[in-house]
Amino acid sequence: MHSNETPTSAFQSPILLMAKRAVAMRAEGRDIVDLTLGEPDFNAPKHVLDAAHLALGSRLTYSPSNGIEPLRSAIRMRAREDRGLDFDDDQISVGCGAKQIIFNAFQATLKPGDEVIVPAPYWASYPGMIKMCGAQPIILPTAASEGFRLTAEHLAAGFRLAKSPKWVILNAPGNPSGSLYSETDLQALAEVLRQYPEVMILSDDIYAEIRFNQEPYQTLASVAPDLAERILIVDGVSKAYAMTGWRVGWGCGSRSLISAMTTVQSQNCTQTSTLSQLAAVAALEGPRDFLAERNAIYRQRRDAALHVLQASDKMEVSRPEGAFYLLPQIKTSIDDQSLALDLLEVGVATVPGSAFGLPRHLRLSFATDEATLVQGCTRLVRALEAYS
Ligand SMILES: Cc1ncc(COP(=O)(O)O)c(C=O)c1O
Repeated sequence: MHSNETPTSAFQSPILLMAKRAVAMRAEGRDIVDLTLGEPDFNAPKHVLDAAHLALGSRLTYSPSNGIEPLRSAIRMRAREDRGLDFDDDQISVGCGAKQIIFNAFQATLKPGDEVIVPAPYWASYPGMIKMCGAQPIILPTAASEGFRLTAEHLAAGFRLAKSPKWVILNAPGNPSGSLYSETDLQALAEVLRQYPEVMILSDDIYAEIRFNQEPYQTLASVAPDLAERILIVDGVSKAYAMTGWRVGWGCGSRSLISAMTTVQSQNCTQTSTLSQLAAVAALEGPRDFLAERNAIYRQRRDAALHVLQASDKMEVSRPEGAFYLLPQIKTSIDDQSLALDLLEVGVATVPGSAFGLPRHLRLSFATDEATLVQGCTRLVRALEAYS
């Protein structure tokens, strides 16, 4: 913490707050469909669980702060095979989820007065993390008509606005937008980024494997290799491998940044669990058919939910290309935060768009079974009828 403040409720995740409310209401016996959390309802694949069971029989000691060597090696293999990117061993840092990796990167590089360009809608944790490091998020609104993608024009405007930008955040598929960038989109962003050689780019690719089209995934470091030194790719096993609670994420970037991040990590929790790291090796090296199978299920859920939501004239909702969130725009007079509270009373928990820098929207997670999801969406549609 750089500021004199102690961390207060101002830094609490609004997603976790809504999820907590839903859990508390359920504990009181209320019937609540919970569409708040970005947590797959699948389990980790069986080969991962088997590897973890086996690992329990070995002596689980401290690991190096940047992760066990076999995991760093598996991460390098995936980067090469999936993205055509080559990293050396000292360009990888493993931490307690992508969240800690991002926090480590900010802790290692931000000082009071620095700024981070954050396109909105954004993952709700970015601004809080930036402020905890004493820096300021510069929020750049994007347009629904452009799928909430950051365009070169937005980015150039953001740079004109910022006085001391250190980082730009890119996140695709986006949470909460579900949007992806094409190679052309990224080329256009790269053109702008080349004009600001001091600025680093956080490429949050945590949802990269959850996509609903057949196009190859595009990430900035592959599209613009000349920028690779300035890019930190963030990924992990939480989403694609349904391993949220195992807490394994990683960053791939320049040697100097990775070394600084590893120092931060070594002073906060030393390392993430050695058992979880061994399970993550199995996840990255094991069979991959389940990814396509699960994506087909997510896609079907997305379409089932859209079928219900799009019948309502009280909202407008587009079709996400990846991740597992729907982001309806609410076309009634009530604000999204009051609406999310009212919706709890009729049995559906959502997250207000304001939490992601996008008022007048709601985020619905479709990482839940289809029947429950359709029930939640039906409750939402019915409830909206009451508002003008
Ligand atoms: C965009 C984004 N980045 C990072 C994370 C953090 O993931 P984890 O810390 O579980 O690896 C999340 C989790 O919700 C996310 O949505």
